[in-house]
Amino acid sequence: MTSVVLGVSAGIAVYKSCELLRLFTESGHDVRVVPTRDALRFVGEPTWAALSGNPVTTEVWESVHEVPHVRIGQSADLVVVAPATADVLARAAHGMANDLLTNTLLTARCPVVFAPAMHTEMWEHPATRANVATLRERGAIVIEPAVGRLTGADTGPGRLPDPAEIFEVCRRVLAGRRDDLAGRHVVVSAGGTREAIDPVRFIGNRSSGLQGYALARTAVARGAEVTLVAANVTLPDPAGAKVVRVESARQLRDAVLAAAEHADAVVMAAAVADFRPVRQSETKIKKSSAEPDPIHLVKNPDILAELGETRRARREAYAAGDAPAHDAPAGRGRDAGNGSDAAREAGAGGPRPRVIVGFAAETDDVLANGRAKLERKGCDLLVVNQVGENLAFGTPDNAAVVLTAEGGSVEIPRGPKEDLADVVWDLVAQRLA
Ligand code: CTP
Repeated sequence: MTSVVLGVSAGIAVYKSCELLRLFTESGHDVRVVPTRDALRFVGEPTWAALSGNPVTTEVWESVHEVPHVRIGQSADLVVVAPATADVLARAAHGMANDLLTNTLLTARCPVVFAPAMHTEMWEHPATRANVATLRERGAIVIEPAVGRLTGADTGPGRLPDPAEIFEVCRRVLAGRRDDLAGRHVVVSAGGTREAIDPVRFIGNRSSGLQGYALARTAVARGAEVTLVAANVTLPDPAGAKVVRVESARQLRDAVLAAAEHADAVVMAAAVADFRPVRQSETKIKKSSAEPDPIHLVKNPDILAELGETRRARREAYAAGDAPAHDAPAGRGRDAGNGSDAAREAGAGGPRPRVIVGFAAETDDVLANGRAKLERKGCDLLVVNQVGENLAFGTPDNAAVVLTAEGGSVEIPRGPKEDLADVVWDLVAQRLA
């Protein structure tokens, strides 16, 4: 049985950690809760003891014969501190050992995950930034807090992410798969665009964003820096991803292309409207006794095709020796003499994004349509879904075939969208390696 230490420090979000604890115990983990003294002001010892089935103490002076200040950390497979206050991050970063939790952090040799929660000012303070940087340098995983409503009337970054999000990061850390996207920046688009007809109506589609969010969550868990461009998604922010919210196809295009300039991989999981009304009425279109006016449509930009085309042009440019430095492979930019070292380094390995992944939802001739789409849009991988049989839109499960630019294919059997996401990232990581 895996042994997990759940550290809780004194933030109002402590109540959410009861749910996190349940997620661990219900999936068969043995959990030892180690609160700080002040954390017990929010949720008391009996709650933690009853939910974990283990004794709970904050001090090193209880059950001394069992040497808890050393044993708990040494025997853990994972330590997760949620919520992690500014104070606990500071004490951990400075190696202090003034309660059982900080002793445990010093003696743990297993992966350590911090899920910070605090007011925005505290999170953004240079002291906290430095402490977080120190902890990350030492190999700890510090999840970015979610953005949203804080304790008072204020909103901003600092919210404890959803317990299910924290659990997912921990589950993946325990599975030992957290590092193969470390140092990579990936962009994922999710959801479905809306094209306004008037201020209250739009042309939209059925995409829920579940697959894109699963891709973002799994990429974070595998160590990537993730920009998630979300079109009209109502799901909670995936812990650790930078979320950019958009509505229309043109807004999605701008956000994806901007982020793609610095990205190693772009995964276009969003369902993008192919057309938009030529004209958007500034006022609500009223029902009249006359026949309604037809809505004339115009084509939207094809973002995936544009990404592929831009990269193709850049490849040709530096094959011809006149690439901009930030796109040049290692060594080429210097010859061109027109860019900084950092830019040249960023370009090592070819034009960005190095890997472009598309999605295609098809109803018939699935593979043939998919293969033609991959070539037409110039992507490296295309995830082809068959729509129907309760698959794809709005369901937690998915099944797909991933086509590769070299003509290969990988079948992904029906299963959770996270599993499909992992196969996609396996293929992306292979191409980046
Ligand atoms: N896509 C895009 N921009 C668009 C339309 C689609 O970037 N304007 C992307 C989607 O995000 C997806 C892929 O292209 O990754 C395929 O989308 P799909 O709707 O299946 O393809 P279409 O180009 O619309 O082809 P068709 O409607 O002919 O099937």
